[in-house]
Amino acid sequence: MASPYSDFKGKPRLPKFATPKRYDIRLKPDLDSCIFNGIVSIDVDVVSSTKYLVLNAADLNVDSSSVSFKPKSSSQELRASGVGLIEEDELLIVEFAEELPLGIGVLNTSFQGTLNDQMKGFYRSVYEINGEKKNMAVTQFEPADARRCFPCWDEPAAKATFKITLDVPSNLIALSNMPVIEEKKEGDLKTVYFEESPIMSTYLVAVVVGLFDFVESSTSDGIKVRCYCQVGKSDQGKFALEVAVKTLELYKKYFDVPYALPKLDMIAIPDFAAGAMENYGLVTYRENALLYDEKHSAAANKQRVAIVVAHELAHQWFGNLVTMEWWTHLWLNEGFATWVSYLAADAIFPEWNIWTQFLDQTTDGLRLDGLSESHAIEVEINHASEIDEIFDAISYRKGASVIRMLQSYIGADTFQRALACYIKKYACSNAKTEDLWAVLEEVSGEPVKELMNSWTQQKGYPVVSVRVKDEKLDLEQSHFLLSGSPSDSQWIVPITLCCGSYDNRYSYLLKEKSGSLGIKDAAYVKLNVDQTGFYRVKYDEELGAKLRHAIESGQLSATDRFGVLDDLFALCTSSQQSLINLLTLIASFREETEYTVLSNLINISYKVMRIVADATPELVDNLRKFFINLFEYPALKLGWDSKSGESHLDATLRGELLTVLAELGHENTLNEAIRRFDAFCADRDSPLLPPDTRKVV
Ligand code: BES
Ligand code: ZN
Repeated sequence: MASPYSDFKGKPRLPKFATPKRYDIRLKPDLDSCIFNGIVSIDVDVVSSTKYLVLNAADLNVDSSSVSFKPKSSSQELRASGVGLIEEDELLIVEFAEELPLGIGVLNTSFQGTLNDQMKGFYRSVYEINGEKKNMAVTQFEPADARRCFPCWDEPAAKATFKITLDVPSNLIALSNMPVIEEKKEGDLKTVYFEESPIMSTYLVAVVVGLFDFVESSTSDGIKVRCYCQVGKSDQGKFALEVAVKTLELYKKYFDVPYALPKLDMIAIPDFAAGAMENYGLVTYRENALLYDEKHSAAANKQRVAIVVAHELAHQWFGNLVTMEWWTHLWLNEGFATWVSYLAADAIFPEWNIWTQFLDQTTDGLRLDGLSESHAIEVEINHASEIDEIFDAISYRKGASVIRMLQSYIGADTFQRALACYIKKYACSNAKTEDLWAVLEEVSGEPVKELMNSWTQQKGYPVVSVRVKDEKLDLEQSHFLLSGSPSDSQWIVPITLCCGSYDNRYSYLLKEKSGSLGIKDAAYVKLNVDQTGFYRVKYDEELGAKLRHAIESGQLSATDRFGVLDDLFALCTSSQQSLINLLTLIASFREETEYTVLSNLINISYKVMRIVADATPELVDNLRKFFINLFEYPALKLGWDSKSGESHLDATLRGELLTVLAELGHENTLNEAIRRFDAFCADRDSPLLPPDTRKVV
């Protein structure tokens, strides 16, 4: 016999006959027994005739006798005639004896759940205070776990307002998306009432209950910003707090829309599944992504904190104010926040040269997307269980990279103007990928949709082969695959090039398989200027030799040196170039001192050593000498001890360079590391072992 609810099973989305408008949620977590009780009243708009209300719930004990619906138009409350759970689809089905009247009504339910240890839904995290272990209660709802805390229409497009009330021990701090309006104390318990939120998606609702310290500041337009940390560690929150205030001010200008809530809290959670989560007005972080300790953290940690904060705050606009219509467009959230976090970090810390490090995003995206098992940026999502998989380098890194490519194609100013239009147009609402393209197309007058579809709707990317023929530059694209196997895919490639100097630039939209450009004989030709494109370039022998010369004579920017190297390495690993070619190119980096380039050279050296050790072990010793020779020069220049006023990148580079030299068995480095380790053992406060060189030692 078919189950009574078979109509609702196995569907990717909830049926649309009723939509939620407002949630009134009351939760009472018990931090000792790890159980929570809850009541929710949901204002629902019934838009087509139905006997059923179908929403999400999972791992909750819903009290069937508590389920009722009170239409606004009638004085009578309707009891549910049946309450069913479909476990595999995480659905709660409420059935009534008769069809519900159209219009608004209130659905009431009470339920019970466990504060689980799975770091999703409503969960417990453990912290220590005065040597004693305590539980705190925390939520993590993205992508689809709000349903583990209260029954709800748990889809990003089902936006509603949220009024939250918490019953908690009176000595604890209770936080949610909005500010507290009132606290009522009764013995050991207190009831904390929060302001009602603007309309938002369920995955952004958040609650935290525990004991914390905080530091506080505010933006120039009066938004209160706090950074909550473990008791006694609030000093470590100061850096993130300062970044948050500056970033909020910056995004307000960039999007030309103010931050929508009256406050922003950020909090470090000891047990946390992701790096950070952009809950509206209450951003949660893993401790190492929020806290920065001047004395014990390395320079790279500082940068990481800034990037993570800038990323999560970008979501307050891009994601929270304007939300993806469905998870297929998740990349828009994550790719965009990733890209714009570099824009913010660059504005706040120009001395970091952060765009040179954006290359790591692109390189990682290219690496994963070069596999035949890759997937397109936009993916169909047919079940909640499929969503987790797409939080990957394709959504984040390829996503961020193609956004950067588009920005550089249509120009920074036009791009910003279009984004501001998009945010205003879809504020408090939902958008799809094509909605963003439409606004960008309208503002820029460029064929954005056609161009971008070729990058987001098929997997992979092209390698553009360039050769000189009869005073012309011939270009030809083909699908770059690590396995080398062919495919017919083609892209619309925004090609940029510079010839002999950065003042001599060209752009060209490669729409077909091949094309050609007339250019005068030049000292060198570099395609993909500044590496803003998501493609690889393969130069013919003549152009390759000219580029090596340009590198040796210091004519190329660090970013472009990085690009030439990374492309050749990728071509080498996919057997489209020889190892000899790669080593010849690497030799032209003898005098390299830039962090980004050296960092990539270091990574490449590890990989080459591993491949050679496997394939031709007799070459290993010579290769070791070759790389030691290459890295000795910049390492000697930097030395072991930081210099006062040196750049943040030099500090990071020191650790990486000394580590690779140690791994390669460089004697001086090994001896010095041992000397410093001994000094540290004799005196834990020895100045010989600062954070940046600790790992190598
Ligand atoms: N929205 C994500 C957090 C998330 C990730 C939720 C996966 C659910 C599943 C957040 O904005 C994010 O992207 N966090 C990153 C850090 C960021 C700086 C790349 C993370 O957690 O690594
Ligand atoms: Zn994100």
